[in-house]
Amino acid sequence: MNARLTPDTTNPELDAFWMPFTANRQFKANPRLLARAKGMYYTTDDGREILDGVSGLWCVNAGHGRSEITAAVTKQLETMEFAPAFQMGHPIAFELANRLAKIAPPGLDRIFFTNSGSEAVDTALKIAVAYHRARGAGQRTRLIGREKGYHGVGFGGMSVGGMVNNRKFFGSSMLPGVDHLPHTLDLEHNAFSRGLPQWGMHFANELERLIALHDASTIAAVIVEPISGSAGVVLPPAGYLKRLREICDKHEILLIFDEVITGFGRVGKPFASQAFDVTPDLITTAKGLTNGAIPMGAVFSQRKVYDAFMQGPENSIELFHGYTYSAHPVACAAALATQDVYAKEGLLTRAATLSPQWENAVHSLRGLPHVIDIRNYGLIGAVELESRQGKPGARGFDVFLKCFERGVMVRQTGDTLAMAPPLVIEPKQIDRIVETLGAVIRETD
Ligand SMILES: Cc1ncc(COP(=O)(O)O)c(C=O)c1O
Repeated sequence: MNARLTPDTTNPELDAFWMPFTANRQFKANPRLLARAKGMYYTTDDGREILDGVSGLWCVNAGHGRSEITAAVTKQLETMEFAPAFQMGHPIAFELANRLAKIAPPGLDRIFFTNSGSEAVDTALKIAVAYHRARGAGQRTRLIGREKGYHGVGFGGMSVGGMVNNRKFFGSSMLPGVDHLPHTLDLEHNAFSRGLPQWGMHFANELERLIALHDASTIAAVIVEPISGSAGVVLPPAGYLKRLREICDKHEILLIFDEVITGFGRVGKPFASQAFDVTPDLITTAKGLTNGAIPMGAVFSQRKVYDAFMQGPENSIELFHGYTYSAHPVACAAALATQDVYAKEGLLTRAATLSPQWENAVHSLRGLPHVIDIRNYGLIGAVELESRQGKPGARGFDVFLKCFERGVMVRQTGDTLAMAPPLVIEPKQIDRIVETLGAVIRETD
């Protein structure tokens, strides 16, 4: 019997692209096509302006169409489009690493380049396991993630991640020896908290329970997002991350912060580690590193981790890991130009200035129909709606769609609407995003 083919869609020219994390058939029946972007706005293929409330996908922190980045990328393409980074080097890779080391939290000044957040996560997990081996503790291979965590889509990131839909389709194709902390979202105690919830630091003590179960001598690392975005913005209760750090220190477990969305100014400091005054052993980044212009990720490593590898014969490769495009010259050029823009315009701290207005604006939606929680920190916000009976995500999708039709792009996860606008946003644009979202929520059943 022939396999049943996908029915023809009304837009056959859209059929060939198998879109990621997308309801393909629904999208292709009613496409939302973005054609151009400048500053705070996208323009659709039919000429409508869309105010970007989510920095593309949490990456375009300096706003769209930055001519400085375009010029740097163009120049680099003309000068040298590619150079290998295996047993070879090119100057701007070193320049970029030095530059990033200057804004990194103390000690995290050894930097490994990847091409995405997923690759940064898998790289960090591999470094953690190999680090323990290098220091004579090769039995430490277990990894601890967290429920609701998102760490990209590689097998490593998927395994330590905790979003059910990202896991259930892939059966037992997960890394063995992974366990999960409980998530920290608790509407009963913390709904409508402004900034960090004050209740729930004790969730960190669950790490002691997992250590008692598995024994510290088997555990390589704990990985968490300081603030998780993909699961609908989950904030760490006050004191929670510090407590995780203390427990990891006590048991010689590496602590990895996945800062793929919180890095590069999203929370008012270069990294959330600095905003929360908790220094992990490894930080994963991507997205805002190049303002989304060219794919790139990076793992920031404590010097003690790097140094553990720098032993044995000097002619031996210390870490058997890397990507053809690690430290790609064009990505390095984009990242350097991006860091220049951030520095020149004070964007790595601008969210701290804007966050009081942002907080007031998003919390003004409290009391609207179906709104069961509002969360914010830095220039991140989320409005959670009650799900329709038996139809989780349906109300959230309707709201997302109507906002887009009215010229505002937000991000929908289930029934939560998340926002993370470019850090160049002006106060009146904050009002427009929130007013549009509020008007749409009011009229959505
Ligand atoms: C915290 C976190 N880690 C990792 C990733 C994966 O990054 P990428 O999509 O670049 O692979 C994301 C993407 O949203 C993320 O939010």
